[in-house]
Amino acid sequence: MNLVKFPRYPLTFGPTPIEKLERLSAHLGGNVELYAKREDCNSGLAFGGNKLRKLEYIVPDAIASGADTLVSIGGVQSNHTRMVAAVAAKIGFKCRLVQEAWVPHEDAVYDRVGNIMLSRIMGADVRLVDDGFDIGIRDSWKQAIAEVEAAGGKPYPIPAGASVHPYGGLGYVGFAEEVRAQEAELGFKFDYVVVCTVTGSTHAGMLVGFAADGRARNVIGIDASCTPQQTRAQVLEIAQRTAELVELGRPIVGDDVVLLEEYAYPVYGVPSAETKEAIRLVGRLEGMITDPVYEGKSMQGMIDLVETGYFPEGSKVLYAHLGGAPALNGYGYAFRNG
Ligand SMILES: Cc1ncc(COP(=O)(O)O)c(C=O)c1O
Repeated sequence: MNLVKFPRYPLTFGPTPIEKLERLSAHLGGNVELYAKREDCNSGLAFGGNKLRKLEYIVPDAIASGADTLVSIGGVQSNHTRMVAAVAAKIGFKCRLVQEAWVPHEDAVYDRVGNIMLSRIMGADVRLVDDGFDIGIRDSWKQAIAEVEAAGGKPYPIPAGASVHPYGGLGYVGFAEEVRAQEAELGFKFDYVVVCTVTGSTHAGMLVGFAADGRARNVIGIDASCTPQQTRAQVLEIAQRTAELVELGRPIVGDDVVLLEEYAYPVYGVPSAETKEAIRLVGRLEGMITDPVYEGKSMQGMIDLVETGYFPEGSKVLYAHLGGAPALNGYGYAFRNG
């Protein structure tokens, strides 16, 4: 496998810490050891999160292209667009963001707080549009690119979640390499990695990275898109493309994508009662904050998998905490009583 041939623009602090979730493990019976890899604390750029690992491999291409404006897309409370706004500020680019109406929301201030507020503070040109949830390539994004061009700018397009960008999967190949190095220091290997999956490149990169030592199927994706067929297909496509790029040397097949579909309900961006319970539980036992759109759903999934005996006794499970807490500001009503 060859990741080092790709230029990387550092946006993160370095390897992220792995923390044992001692009290959560004990609360769930103590038969499975739970750990968290804190991707949510990976950078000083606007609260960090998983997109930065991906963008580290995309920024060199953006700079080399001679562009002056990053153009990207997501929902109103997209973490990804917040990260693109931060990176644009950091590298001295302009930023144009399309924020679609992906989520039915209860809070009147939903489009004023959290991620979208941070993007505005960082100087991004934020435009809201009415289109609903879809992880694919969107007309509103193509239109934004055309508008930047028409105004004399040089756009560099970054798709939703940086996922279908040709280099979108590389960052999380690096995550697997980093975990292997940390395992050598810890003196044990993780049996499973739990990851929240929506646009797909986080999961795809990880499974390519872990395929290098035969652990692709130990990466357990928890779908939070609620459109799992599309997400599963996108993970496979990105994994196959990424495997070729890094010369993995073995094919990635459909069965390598382990994606559990049963925790994304009722719909993308809306937490179920069980998701909110999981958010409260890990908050109260570990002081660790997860969000209602992504990490709360993967946390709910991991808790349920422990409780239903999915992981054999003695397993060591690594929860990839991918960030996302700023969106909580748009969910004040859901947590009005804690
Ligand atoms: C906090 C958080 N967790 C998980 C994900 C899912 O990652 P991906 O889109 O690469 O599947 C995202 C982005 O979509 C995110 O912002």
